[in-house]
Amino acid sequence: MLQAIACYYCNGIGTCKRLLVNFTRSHSRYSMPHLIHAPGPATGLLGLSVARRFSASPIKFLTDMHDEYGPIVHLRFGPQHLILAFAPEAIQEVLVTQNKSFPKQQQNLRAVRQIDGNGLITTEGDFWLRQRRLVQKGFSTDHLERYADITVRRTQQLLDRWPTVGEVEICAEMTCLTLETIAEMMFEVDMAADARELAEQVEYLSERLVVEFGSLVPLPDWLPIESKRRKRRALRALHEMIRRVVSNRRRSGEDRGDMLSMLLQAVDTEGDGGKMTDAQVCDEITTLFVAGYDTTASGLAWTWYLLAQHPDIAEAARCEAKEVLGDCPASLADFERLPTIRQIVLESLRLYPPAWLLMLREANCDTELLGFRVPRKSWIYLVPWVTQRSPLWFADPLRFDPARFATHRLAEIPAHAYFPFGAGPHRCIGERLALLEMTLIVAMMSRSCRFLLSAGQGPVEVEPHTAIRPRGGLRLRVEKIWGVASGWV
Ligand code: HEM
Repeated sequence: MLQAIACYYCNGIGTCKRLLVNFTRSHSRYSMPHLIHAPGPATGLLGLSVARRFSASPIKFLTDMHDEYGPIVHLRFGPQHLILAFAPEAIQEVLVTQNKSFPKQQQNLRAVRQIDGNGLITTEGDFWLRQRRLVQKGFSTDHLERYADITVRRTQQLLDRWPTVGEVEICAEMTCLTLETIAEMMFEVDMAADARELAEQVEYLSERLVVEFGSLVPLPDWLPIESKRRKRRALRALHEMIRRVVSNRRRSGEDRGDMLSMLLQAVDTEGDGGKMTDAQVCDEITTLFVAGYDTTASGLAWTWYLLAQHPDIAEAARCEAKEVLGDCPASLADFERLPTIRQIVLESLRLYPPAWLLMLREANCDTELLGFRVPRKSWIYLVPWVTQRSPLWFADPLRFDPARFATHRLAEIPAHAYFPFGAGPHRCIGERLALLEMTLIVAMMSRSCRFLLSAGQGPVEVEPHTAIRPRGGLRLRVEKIWGVASGWV
């Protein structure tokens, strides 16, 4: 309880314990002095020991904070307040009800903007709203039908490449699949070589992003050191490639029916009646490409990891896939007819949310969350990994139990306790596409293959990259049980 009423200035280190509540009430510059801070650890004057624990293992640190202090936690690094908002009610306040009071944190935005420019992820307000309306057109049912066909064709090509019995590194395989799929959805042409180079640059830039997010004092990009040189090269290569694709298409004037043609032609009929400039199209295409493949690949890799350990659930998926798809390729229409597989995907995104930590938010005014004080400029952490694994909101939370998502049980999940795609106005624009892709891929691959953890696969550790992934990859043994050409084997 001492933590809950820790002083605004000493943050419970104890230097003014005797003055505690009164001191806080009378001396705080905070405009709601009747409120107290949420519970949390004493972080010392600069919070260096806590910062070290956080950088060493962010997932473990955030989980420990939840386990020790509960649904909302307050920390302090020098003058900076940090709020870990694990409770669904707090998540709803930050992302939905009071979302205008909690914009994305500027330092994070600046770092992401170097990659995505002014795309949907890095913009807010009227500019974002106009772009969101325009980009949304690319996710209509007509487009989804085409995306489903691309997914199915690419998945079949991957299955045809695999041996009848053998071993695969499933993270690399899923990344390759989602990469080729998103590249074809975005740019139509088969630009496998370009897509790989794009992915290499994005991979490096994402790694740097994680390092930069985690460092207390980010180094300026102009420094003549190797990591910064490499970063500048990667940014140049990524942006030149995208600019080239966009300007070639603009020049050719062709409508290839892909996302790029749609963005070049889209008219803001509900707003100013204008179109996007080429620079805006470049930023949105980069944003969609970067946001679209790594997350989906991560979700798929963890799904296979879970299914390899739960043969009964894998068998249920296989039976459903065989019954619904028969010997035919999957299609958009099958999505609604695969409820067991959809539940598997949703449960896997609960236990292993690719976006394990949302982009930092920052309070732009003095406010409160769950009755605790949130001073202006506090940073707010929203952590699907922790909330979605908490016994406070999920029974037997670490058990892989896809039936939680059966329609008649959905009401058991509190609103916003499950948010792998975020919530509110900035909720993932690709959610329907990602769920469609994952469901069709799991259906087709379950029909064709059995997966087991490889004998040589050691314990799997989670690496908190921009999307979580198994550290060092994940080796699975694959046994093909069906092939389009040969029928059942
Ligand atoms: C399993 C796959 C995916 C997951 C888990 C995921 C997760 C998320 C999350 C959590 C957010 C909100 C971030 C925040 O508020 O801080 C988000 C936003 C976004 N996602 Fe996804 N995503 C996935 C797939 C995709 C795909 C396939 C695309 C596009 C092709 C995409 C494009 C975007 C964009 C553009 C935004 C920003 C939306 C806005 O602010 O208006 N995502 N995603």
